[in-house]
Amino acid sequence: VKTEIGVGMIGLGNVGSGVAEALLGRREYFARQVGAPLIIRRVAVRNPDKPRSVSLPPGVLTTDVRAVVTDPAIDVVVEIAGGEEPVGAYVLEAIRAGKHVVTANKELISKAGPELLHEAHSRGLDIMFEASVGGGIPLIAPLRRDLLANRIDRIRAIINGTTNYILTRMAQEGLDYEVALAAAQGLGYAEPDPTNDVEGIDAAYKLSIMASLGFRTRVRHTDVQTTGITRLTAIDFANARDMGYVIKLLAVAERLDGGIVARVAPVLVPHTEPLSRVDGVYNAVQIEGDLTGSVLFQGRGAGAGPTTSAVLADLLDLAHAIVLGARERKYWGPDVDVPVLGSEGHESRYYLRFAVQDRPGVLAQIARTLGDAGVSISAVRQQESSSGEETADLVIMTHSAREGVMADALAGIAQLDVVTNIGSFLRVEG
Ligand code: NDP
Ligand code: HSE
Repeated sequence: VKTEIGVGMIGLGNVGSGVAEALLGRREYFARQVGAPLIIRRVAVRNPDKPRSVSLPPGVLTTDVRAVVTDPAIDVVVEIAGGEEPVGAYVLEAIRAGKHVVTANKELISKAGPELLHEAHSRGLDIMFEASVGGGIPLIAPLRRDLLANRIDRIRAIINGTTNYILTRMAQEGLDYEVALAAAQGLGYAEPDPTNDVEGIDAAYKLSIMASLGFRTRVRHTDVQTTGITRLTAIDFANARDMGYVIKLLAVAERLDGGIVARVAPVLVPHTEPLSRVDGVYNAVQIEGDLTGSVLFQGRGAGAGPTTSAVLADLLDLAHAIVLGARERKYWGPDVDVPVLGSEGHESRYYLRFAVQDRPGVLAQIARTLGDAGVSISAVRQQESSSGEETADLVIMTHSAREGVMADALAGIAQLDVVTNIGSFLRVEG
């Protein structure tokens, strides 16, 4: 019978400090819930001299990660350091040394989750990763457990807080992208190097994890067609608003005939959709199951508090299982091989914005190119351009068309000499 659960940690930064503080401060409560106290045995960091907001018992802090992952008194290793390597190697070593693992690391789980899980399961161990997607929002546990009986048909998500903050400021205040990004950086939401957020890579990692669980197959982050938000302009937000839409960076995975498609891209979402009202750093995930219908999860997708909540949920769950002597439970098992398709066959409406020469016959040429490709126009707006008297901004909304057809039509439009620039090409979602 286990009388104590030994906890090792890799990382004592934003999230790690929150986790350690709660383990120390809520020790009795957690002990009652789990059936045994959770004791922090060792915590690995890079710099032992850095001031820390949490004070650990003497001898717990170390720079020797191996001392954490091989310590026989440690049952669960909590990895909240981040990045693929060297952390991936540490996690593997911890599993091989017989430890369960809790991680908040979306990059690692997206890239190597199935292999690490296989290593763990073959030893009767588990890896839990609730905090890797959507911070404090319960998503992984519902996908692994509560929605297990369903055939999941679609996942649609606003899953990156930094970009949602930027897009909200652009929509509500007419800010340009660079100004909104600087504001996000100033508030500490965006990283000093915001590439993974603004290029949609962070959202692609998270979508690949949710889609793999939801569709019970392997969806790699490289399977996710990913477009970032860096080319959006204030004009697109004003146009979208006037037409009854908002622009959101949406992560979508859906089941189609013959496979699934997964994509992250800025899209127009109608004002009437719940996701259009998810603003600022908030995240939201809408999952459609054949039995439940649509369920919506919403909350804070990042930050020390929410992420700590998710890490501890996994840790307490594992600790309880250890106390009960439970071994294997139901895991993320990719049990079917569903192909991940390209997006050429995917149908939707499109928002197009071109800079065109303002002279007779221009609109007719563009309409003919779209018509010849089989793309039907649903609305057209033209505005005088602020950048020069001879050009105009032309905005076209299409009826539903296949992406492959649309791409061909756009290639044709790009060749017209009356078109000086294809400004935007966004799907309309919903
Ligand atoms: P921080 O940068 O604040 O903290 C990272 C911690 O890990 C630091 O204590 C650092 O040591 C330690 N560390 C990093 N690399 C190593 C290494 N090779 N060996 C030993 N220690 C190491 O990151 P966060 O706390 O913000 O994030 C941690 C994880 O949580 C990441 O995977 C992140 O993606 C994930 N996450 C974070 C969220 C957030 O809002 N912050 C939200 C959701 C997930 P030192 O202190 O000495 O530098
Ligand atoms: N960079 C991420 C975001 C942090 O902005 O949502 C949470 O994973």
